[in-house]
Amino acid sequence: MTSRPVINDMSSFWMPFTANRQFKSAPRLLESAKGMYYRSSDGREVLDGCAGLWCVNAGHGREQIVSAVTAQMQTMDFAPTFQMAHPLAFKAASKVAELMPEGLDRIFFTNSGSESVDTALKIAIAYHRARGEGQRTRLIGRERGYHGVGFGGISVGGIGPNRKAYSGNLIPGVDHLPHTHNPEHNSFTQGQPVWGAHLAEDLERLIALHDASTIAAVIVEPVSGSTGVLVPPQGYLQKLREITAKHGILLIFDEVITGFGRLGKATASEYFGVTPDILTLAKAINNAAIPMGAVAAHRKIHDAIVDSSSPNAIELFHGYTYSAHPAAAAACIATLDLYRGEGLFERAAGLAPFFEKTVHALRDAPFVKDIRNLGLVAGIELESRPGAPGARAYETFVKCFEAGVLIRYTGDILAFSPPLIIDEAQIHTLFDTVRKVLATVD
Ligand SMILES: Cc1ncc(COP(=O)(O)O)c(C=O)c1O
Repeated sequence: MTSRPVINDMSSFWMPFTANRQFKSAPRLLESAKGMYYRSSDGREVLDGCAGLWCVNAGHGREQIVSAVTAQMQTMDFAPTFQMAHPLAFKAASKVAELMPEGLDRIFFTNSGSESVDTALKIAIAYHRARGEGQRTRLIGRERGYHGVGFGGISVGGIGPNRKAYSGNLIPGVDHLPHTHNPEHNSFTQGQPVWGAHLAEDLERLIALHDASTIAAVIVEPVSGSTGVLVPPQGYLQKLREITAKHGILLIFDEVITGFGRLGKATASEYFGVTPDILTLAKAINNAAIPMGAVAAHRKIHDAIVDSSSPNAIELFHGYTYSAHPAAAAACIATLDLYRGEGLFERAAGLAPFFEKTVHALRDAPFVKDIRNLGLVAGIELESRPGAPGARAYETFVKCFEAGVLIRYTGDILAFSPPLIIDEAQIHTLFDTVRKVLATVD
């Protein structure tokens, strides 16, 4: 007889991106959430300094979203979107499209950021093929980029540990631009660094090496999040846009974190005034209430693919059982209404200067080596403990949680991305807690 797991035994759940043994020896459990706060299993309020995982932009437990999802589940739990559909799928797509940059109004639904990235890469390659340039298959990512965990995403991604164990099987034909962080020039920059736009010119070197005719797309996060908050130098994204356009290469912005208000606009594209050809979304698309992601493709890309097939043929052999799941679509519509109704993107823009001032006040706190920020996102890089990279940030994270504040960390970088409903007093509490905790870590 097989042995059954004991109820509440923690061994069955193989946790993602977690030191499983370390966590299970001293678990941190969240049991409920409302507004800006989680409640932990030991009954403490915990201020959410990272919107869950950069995703709960409207704050937790929003009634409008809960009731929209509940009503949808009672009406129809699931409907396929392969050769069938349901009305909310179209409504959600139109609402997302309304927020996208000019022209990017063809929306393909997925269930996560990783799926959005792989979908975007496939659409880029399919687009060139549909136009008779099937040799354009090469993809260019960037060092330190994070594009989720699919084989496509880790291949164009540039975070070593995410690739190492799978390195023999990454997709071929990928190259990488250099990342844009240079502490000598960029440390403690408030907003966009002045130095570094020229790094985009490295794309010309890759084009000379591989030839433009072999390159399908360049993918970057407009602001890198998961690697530890890297803000693009002034003019950098514009330069990438110019070079890609000149060579017929598609530009993909991975806006899984920056989409839906993180920078005070619907998209980073709008914030920077740079329009890509394809844009990936997830997370805050429906306040993370139900898994959902999306790809916004320019109409010309959609039309090239769709019009290249005979009228009764499936044009793009791609999709997920849960693409535009009814409950996720209901949550998406309610969330986008909520963002607009409460003016949350504008609120984020209004709070950004206070957020910037408050995070940069930690410049003199122990171990702080760099601080970077844009909109309602910030990173504080700590000096690593000798021989134990990441240990100091981990200790800071745990102590902040014990002190009632949830933050993120990656390596020795602390990351902050609170819900857009945060107020000034809570911003103060967030960074004041970090300051106090830093005074106690080794
Ligand atoms: C820029 C970016 N792309 C893709 C992803 C992957 O999203 P998911 O974890 O939903 O697959 C993330 C997740 O943080 C991300 O930040």
